[in-house]
Amino acid sequence: MHLSRDFPYLITIFTLVFSTHYSRSGAAINTVEEFLDTLINSSRYDRRIRPFFDQRRACNVTMTIHINTISAINEVNMDYNTDLIFRQSWYDPRLNYSGTDWAAKSPEITLHYSLIDRIWVPDSFFRNAKEGKRSDITVPNRLIRVHRDGKVLYSQRLLLKLDCQMKLQKFPLDNQTCVVNIGSYGFATTDLAFFWDQASNISAIRVNEDLEMPDFVLSNHEAKYCNRTTATGSFTCLLVVLHLKRLFGYYLVQVYIPSMLIVILSFVSFWIDHKSVPARISVGLLTVLTVTTQSSGIRSQLPRVSYIKAIDVWMSACLVFVFAGLLEYALVNVIARKGELRQQVRFSKEVIGNRLAQVHFYKKDGGHQSNAETMETLVHKTSNAERKLSGNTTNTHVHYSSMSNTNAPSQPTPQVVVSQPAQLAIAAKPVRDSAQFVDLISAVLFPVAFIVFNIIYWMVYLNMHVEYILK
Ligand SMILES: *[C@@H]1O[C@H](CO)[C@@H](O)[C@H](O)[C@H]1NC(C)=O
Repeated sequence: MHLSRDFPYLITIFTLVFSTHYSRSGAAINTVEEFLDTLINSSRYDRRIRPFFDQRRACNVTMTIHINTISAINEVNMDYNTDLIFRQSWYDPRLNYSGTDWAAKSPEITLHYSLIDRIWVPDSFFRNAKEGKRSDITVPNRLIRVHRDGKVLYSQRLLLKLDCQMKLQKFPLDNQTCVVNIGSYGFATTDLAFFWDQASNISAIRVNEDLEMPDFVLSNHEAKYCNRTTATGSFTCLLVVLHLKRLFGYYLVQVYIPSMLIVILSFVSFWIDHKSVPARISVGLLTVLTVTTQSSGIRSQLPRVSYIKAIDVWMSACLVFVFAGLLEYALVNVIARKGELRQQVRFSKEVIGNRLAQVHFYKKDGGHQSNAETMETLVHKTSNAERKLSGNTTNTHVHYSSMSNTNAPSQPTPQVVVSQPAQLAIAAKPVRDSAQFVDLISAVLFPVAFIVFNIIYWMVYLNMHVEYILK
């Protein structure tokens, strides 16, 4: 009865003695376990309450970032992967142990990674993270170090996939600006503020010296602030700005030089005789097909953006050049055929004129000269001679056959027939030249146009500036 009445008092006394023993007299703490249990005892440390909450002061967190790798910069998904060490440092007065004699033994103590669940940590998050995980090989990659004045260092290694909105107008001559955006999820600036660590006079952002990216170089990086006000209050925000410069070499070797060579190859067509139809058609078609295949190969690696990229301009121009080369042949072919037709008409007119003159002559002569040459050999000769010029005999053959029927009795002398090809060659000369002339003009004009296009293209795209708005 007596004991039960005094029991609450006994417990109070016991608790008082106990807590005094552990918190005031540091001498009694002999092992690290005891020390930690004292430091992060749930009865004196509430991890739900932020530091300086009772003083109504903001908790200031300083940060540094060490970028290990940047990889998989992806234009299609507009993101990149990074492996970074994220360090946050803040003061937590409750973890100040400078009063104890443990402070002399060790000015700072590194806690086990699992103890992060027992202390307050800032609720930092990556605003532009699409995916992310902590590195857990072989144990969670975390460091928690408590200095005797209560300064906590919390470092962790993170593998993040971060969003990076790319501007591809100049692709592949472009530079990209990607960011790492760090904010506090819940605490407003009155409670929690993030700062870049300026203490040690070195940049808060360090980049691995042997950072290698296959198609980019990190030209510069900056540490910026991006504090912002949203519907739920104003929040602290830090920004790592990574300036990435695309390495043009790959695209030069894989895209620009091959397509340039194909366009030049299509110009070869102008030097081929316009009468060799298969050669010129195949050069034209193959170059068009190759450029089309090439541009579709590039397109598959890029997002479907609505604006025109530098590579689109290039590939379209190449396609226009090779296509124009093919059209030029169509034009040359038409001109050549028209010329041929005109030449045939002229030829047949001359033949008819000759024959008429002969008929006239024979009639005048009144005699029918006997000639060793038959009608068949005559026609054969003329058509042979003509084949040399035009390559097309069927029309003329029929023509002569029909004509020879009408003029069956009158057989011209051989020397008249022999003189025909010479006359034809003279008659056909200007006709053949006009087709060749178009080819000659094209052989000069196309390369000049391509060179001019190249000068304009490279001048425009090497000097073009694309504005980045950082969010
Ligand atoms: C944090 O920084 C702000 C402004 O820089 C300052 O007013 C405040 O006292 C700091 N808080 C602490 C706990 O030092």
